[in-house]
Amino acid sequence: MRASVVRMMIVFANTKGGVGKSTLAVHLAVWLFDRGAKVALLDVDRQLSARQWIEEVEPQITARTAGTPEDVLSEAQSLAESHDFVIADGPGGLNDSSRTLLILADLAIFPISPSILDLRSVAEATQALKYAQSINGGKVQGRLVLNRMRTRDKISREMAEAAPSLGLQVTKSHIRDLQPYRDAAQQGTVVTRMGYKAKEAAAELTQLFVELMTDKLAFLGTEEQPKTGKVAANE
Ligand SMILES: Nc1ncnc2c1ncn2[C@@H]1O[C@H](COP(=O)(O)OP(=O)(O)O)[C@@H](O)[C@H]1O
Ligand SMILES: [Mg+2]
Repeated sequence: MRASVVRMMIVFANTKGGVGKSTLAVHLAVWLFDRGAKVALLDVDRQLSARQWIEEVEPQITARTAGTPEDVLSEAQSLAESHDFVIADGPGGLNDSSRTLLILADLAIFPISPSILDLRSVAEATQALKYAQSINGGKVQGRLVLNRMRTRDKISREMAEAAPSLGLQVTKSHIRDLQPYRDAAQQGTVVTRMGYKAKEAAAELTQLFVELMTDKLAFLGTEEQPKTGKVAANE
C-alpha cells in the first residue's frame, strides 16, 4: 500500500494536429500504469482517438472526455483526487479548453514533427504557456519533444538545430518516425507491449519518459536512468 499519491497532471498540447499528441499521451499513460501508477486519461480532442485507443489497450486506466473548458476543469479536478497521474490529450489548437489544461497542468509537453509549420506553431505554444504560468504562479513546466525524426533527413536535422532557440526546453531524447507507432494505433496496443518487433521504439520512448519523469522515478520504483548523449536525429 502506498502512503501518498503523486497527483501530477501532464498535458500534451500544440497548435497543430498530427504531431503525435495522442500517440505520446496514450504511450505515457500505459507506461506509467505498467509501473504501478494509478492513471487517468482525459481526452479533450474532438476526435476522441486517444480515449478509444486507451480503452482498447488498458481498461484499468480511467478514460474520460471533456468538451468544454468547464468540463476540463471539473473532470481534471475529480480525476486528480483519485489518481497519481492525469494525462490530458489536448486538441490540435490552442482554444479555451487547451488553455485551461495548461493552467491546471504541472507539465506541458509540446510534440513537434519535422515541418516549417510545426516550428511556427511553437511560438504560439510558448506564448500560451507563459500566459498559463502567469496565472498558475509558474507551476506548469513546458517541454518540447521532437517527434517523427528521420535519420539523414534535412528537415529533421534543421528542426533539431532550431528547436533550442524556440523558447521551450527541448528534451534530450527524440522520437523517430518508426512504423511500430502506426501499427500500435491500428492494433490497439502500445510499442512498449509489442515485444521484439517494436524494441527500438520501446527503448527510445522509455528513455524519453524516464527523462520527463525523472523526479518521479523513486515513486514509480524504477531504477532506469536516462541515457545521455543519444540523439536519434544525429545517429
Ligand atoms: N514517432 C512516430 N513514428 C511514426 N508515426 C507516428 C509517430 N508519431 C505519430 N505517428 C503517426 O502520426 C499520425 C498523427 O499522430 P497523432 O498522435 O494522432 O497526432 P495528434 O494527436 O497530434 O493529431 C498518426 O497516424 C500516428 O500513428
Ligand atoms: Mg490527437
